[in-house]
Amino acid sequence: MSGNGNRPLVPFNIRDLSPYVAGKTIAEVEKEYQPPEVSKLASNENRLGCSPDVEKEVIKAMQEIQDYPDPASRQLRDVLADLNNVDRENILVAAGSESVISILCRTFFLNHEEAITADATFVGFFVQVNIRGISINKIPVTNDYRYDLEAMADAISERTKMIYIANPNNPTGTYVNASEFERFMRRVPDDVLVVMDEAYYEYARDVADYPHSLDYDYDNVITLRTFSKAYGLAGFRIGYAIAPERIVSEMMKTKLTFEPTTPAQAAALAALGDQKFLKKSKDRVEEGKKRLYEFFEKHNVSYVPSISNSVMMVLPDEQQAVDFTQAMLEQGVILRRINAFGLPNCVRITIGRKKEMAHFERSFEKVLETQEF
Ligand SMILES: Cc1ncc(COP(=O)(O)O)c(C=O)c1O
Repeated sequence: MSGNGNRPLVPFNIRDLSPYVAGKTIAEVEKEYQPPEVSKLASNENRLGCSPDVEKEVIKAMQEIQDYPDPASRQLRDVLADLNNVDRENILVAAGSESVISILCRTFFLNHEEAITADATFVGFFVQVNIRGISINKIPVTNDYRYDLEAMADAISERTKMIYIANPNNPTGTYVNASEFERFMRRVPDDVLVVMDEAYYEYARDVADYPHSLDYDYDNVITLRTFSKAYGLAGFRIGYAIAPERIVSEMMKTKLTFEPTTPAQAAALAALGDQKFLKKSKDRVEEGKKRLYEFFEKHNVSYVPSISNSVMMVLPDEQQAVDFTQAMLEQGVILRRINAFGLPNCVRITIGRKKEMAHFERSFEKVLETQEF
């Protein structure tokens, strides 16, 4: 059989992607550095865990584990519809908001079209757009690490199909406020989709000028939410989109038929029923952020105030960020460098339990003995 020797194995857009580099696990850090304790403050997870109601419902769901899940997630979509004052047809549930982003990329882009977002935002969006072979126009964030919506609106062209805004943003924790969002939307043509990724919505929703994207009546806005953050279900992989029916019905065609799994749907339903746990999680993050800001101010460390569950430290350069993260790791504190998100000199700290944050502070003070910034 003769083949075409010049034919590449994979398309260039896949070849040029870097595989996801996961942070170290607690077990790996224990084994490698043997610190007296390990605090994982790297992935914006809920360090309080999840609602105790989840386990019971997941065990119940195991009775159906031999059957395929409901491909339309009807029960969960009905509850979400009620909670958000929309119809079931406005909701799509998938294996995490990363999967929803992948569905959006599969469903809506034509080959010559492009996406617009910030240069420092959720890396998962960059990856899914690249997999689809679509170009991204990344608009630099402002000096205070916020989306530059005016510049993003200026960048809209005939090729623009989708604009992605994480609100609040990851990794910066900053947000687009209501008047900025409204001004921006006045400049976006109706045939451009605006994705408002509200992964951290539960932490942000009480901020006075935070724009709740669902309170507006735009025909081209898609709201993303997830159970991975405040609800503490990251391991289940479940998130959702809320959008006009004409958008959701197209997305339903490209969603993997049986995502998310039956236990994940049961877990999400249980989590939605426990608002007490949600409040406790939110209160912990508020208290933890306040204390962390005071700590940073005491040590003259530059940081960016956040309305999500993480805070970004700004170091003078990339090498210092590398050295600092490594030194903290050796103390058992796992943090996230955010070079892949476009900010090589910054480090992101997830707000953890009190005990973990105290470990962070102690370790930080130890590291300061040998590293200055
Ligand atoms: C802004 C943003 N969107 C989406 C995700 C992915 O969430 P999920 O676990 O639902 O895929 C994250 C996770 O870090 C995120 O920060």
